[in-house]
Amino acid sequence: MNQPATVRWQPSIAHRQGPLYRAIAAALAEDIANGTLPPGARLPTHRDLAWDLKVTVGTITRAYQEAERQGLIGGEVGRGTFVRDPRRLVEPVAEGGGSLMEVNLGLIDLSVNATALWPDAQALTAATQAVAQRPDLVALMSYQTPLGHPRLRAAIADWLADSANMHVAPEQVLLAVGGQGAMLTALSAVTRPGDTLLVEQLTYTGLRAVALHLGLRLVPVAMDAEGLLPEAVEQAARAHGAHALYCMPTLQNPTTATLSTDRRRALVDIARRIGLMIIEDDVYGFLKQPAPPTLYSLGPDVTLYVSSLSKSLFPGLRTGYVVGPRPLFDRLATILRATVLAPAHMGTVVAAELIDSGEAGRIAQRRRALVAERQTLARACLSGLDLSGSDADVTHLWLPLPETVRRDDLVRGALERGVKVTSADGFSVGKGEAPNAVRICLMGVDHASQLEKGLSVLEGLISNPVATSAAWV
Ligand SMILES: Cc1ncc(COP(=O)(O)O)c(C=O)c1O
Repeated sequence: MNQPATVRWQPSIAHRQGPLYRAIAAALAEDIANGTLPPGARLPTHRDLAWDLKVTVGTITRAYQEAERQGLIGGEVGRGTFVRDPRRLVEPVAEGGGSLMEVNLGLIDLSVNATALWPDAQALTAATQAVAQRPDLVALMSYQTPLGHPRLRAAIADWLADSANMHVAPEQVLLAVGGQGAMLTALSAVTRPGDTLLVEQLTYTGLRAVALHLGLRLVPVAMDAEGLLPEAVEQAARAHGAHALYCMPTLQNPTTATLSTDRRRALVDIARRIGLMIIEDDVYGFLKQPAPPTLYSLGPDVTLYVSSLSKSLFPGLRTGYVVGPRPLFDRLATILRATVLAPAHMGTVVAAELIDSGEAGRIAQRRRALVAERQTLARACLSGLDLSGSDADVTHLWLPLPETVRRDDLVRGALERGVKVTSADGFSVGKGEAPNAVRICLMGVDHASQLEKGLSVLEGLISNPVATSAAWV
């Protein structure tokens, strides 16, 4: 079997503090995160690296042991030491269940709206180090009110002003466990099992999970190229006796549609007139600059705003939040007390550090730049296809397929060739036929070359539909 060649690795450790072996392990972690040492790379032998760095072999042995303990590298007797693929480190979500990210080394996964995080690894490390020095850290780690520590809620209020042009008092912000927890908290506050929830006819899969859990009946509402149709919302609410609507007015997942300000006003007017509570999900809103007015800004009495820092900063922070009308606060607090008791503050302390230092704004700016870069690349790779209806500001493409290509054939054919995308059926609500389209996430793979490879597989299948069709007999 062919062995990968050993990489030449010359880390700079002079500027690092602490024991030498730790400095080398930290340099390894950094170079794996920034792609200098890709998954599968064979590291120099202990002896060679010791010679290059002018340290003892024992120091290298300890450094490699430390990196192995962190799951970054692995050794095989007789073959050497290799950089592990971070995706292989993901544990199964549940017993017998699959894993959140594919563990298959060769898969190009364009089905998850995650972001390659390595360009921001240093900022995260610096913020975490600053947090460790905070004199109030221990106080922040004690039990808090279920709504969250005032200082952290103030940081989120600042973030909303900067990124969403939404001006709220810190007391109006409630912390939740990610956007998912924010959705669950908000929907629990305004619905009861058996209620009807109106949603866009193609909606976020995680919302469907929440609705199933809460025993809600989903009723799809018609959309056009610009998104939700306000008059269809009114009609559906009256026809089904619905009192709640969940929607994503900015860069809708999956269609990428953004509602105009007129439609936003119309929605708020309808909500007031017929007694509808709107749950506004804005996780992608920071990508659209200047930010359109949020539904909450236009109708703070009829909107529960939910969002998180998962797309703008790091999903692992699990910092989500709900902003809503004061009369609902007691109910929201009761739900948070029952479900989380007190917020998991550590991630949010790091988030607050990033926000207060101005670093969060710079990371968000880098994300927008990376989105633009990947969108340009994707549109060049798929230049023969009609992407005019897919907004270039967001992390994914919404690709309507030509009649000659069936979406399920494409998804299956792509998977057989190691590329994963999501069919419109995954987002579709109700009995109607889903559109012949797929969602392609552009940001989850670490390197542009992987994206290019995945897109060229898709392009090949679309331009040669016979290859995608499995029906020979
Ligand atoms: C529209 C939408 N809302 C909420 C979420 C969940 O966000 P979080 O990771 O913060 O739970 C996602 C994640 O993809 C999303 O696309």
